[in-house]
Amino acid sequence: MNITVVGSTNMDLVYLVPHIVKAGETIHSTKHELFFGGKGANQAVTASQLGASVHFIGNVGADDFGKKVKQNLQDKGVNTDAVPSVGVTGQAIIQLADSGENSIILFPGANFLVTTDQIEANTETIASSDALLLQLEIPMAAVETAANIATQNGVQIILNPAPAQPISDSLLKKVSILTPNETELAILTGLKTETEEDLFQACSSLLQKGVGAVVVTLGAKGSYYMNSQEHGKVKARPVDVKDTTGAGDAFNGALAVALCHENSLRESILYASKVAGYAVTQLGAQPTIPSSFQVK
Ligand code: RIB
Repeated sequence: MNITVVGSTNMDLVYLVPHIVKAGETIHSTKHELFFGGKGANQAVTASQLGASVHFIGNVGADDFGKKVKQNLQDKGVNTDAVPSVGVTGQAIIQLADSGENSIILFPGANFLVTTDQIEANTETIASSDALLLQLEIPMAAVETAANIATQNGVQIILNPAPAQPISDSLLKKVSILTPNETELAILTGLKTETEEDLFQACSSLLQKGVGAVVVTLGAKGSYYMNSQEHGKVKARPVDVKDTTGAGDAFNGALAVALCHENSLRESILYASKVAGYAVTQLGAQPTIPSSFQVK
């Protein structure tokens, strides 16, 4: 099972705080931690730990963080042949509040230096994959180039449209599975996403644009999904939440693995929810996932 992830790498600078700092306020952090992050890297590391053969295409910075970030990917079994060191490593400054809420400032650094030429140079890797996993922390032109290569070669595309931003109709119609959260879904469609009926309407509008399936992650409320055959909700199991940072990434990495094992969409969502539920019980965006979670 070959999964290619095209995306971002970051070093996450995490500050535990009593509450998210307000404008004009100064507060003390009770603890500071460095974690590996970046939506692309998080998804790649999850898929690799779940037994997939994962190639990562993206950048790390030409600095000390960059060396560590690349080494971490390798340690987690991710192939980094297509990961040059350029510029400054991306950073996420994360406040993690006692309530479990977080807020993130993203400094993209090397992630915004990913080029279309770089993606095209790795056409063979994308073309020979069972799935291409994409997010939106690198330039949209690079995302679109990767999607074009996948489409031309019949590779299914899972696009996690985060951080939220508008997406062209031409990209949407290439997407096999789109995985927004409620906020991202509202931004993509311009529709409300509060009730199940709202979700039905918003997902229907994306299917009409040619998206194969939509899986909306709803945090502790589970997820809502729709493809041309079915739609429905999948509940999340209650867990002891420590840190929700990267929960969506664990979900996406696991979803890709389950789909590549030819599980149905609903079965794959159930599996991804289980993995994401486990991920939030640990601090940091890249949880250690035991081999017992691997799809048999
Ligand atoms: O999805 C969580 C990730 O978003 C963090 O690891 C951070 O780096 C940001 O990219």
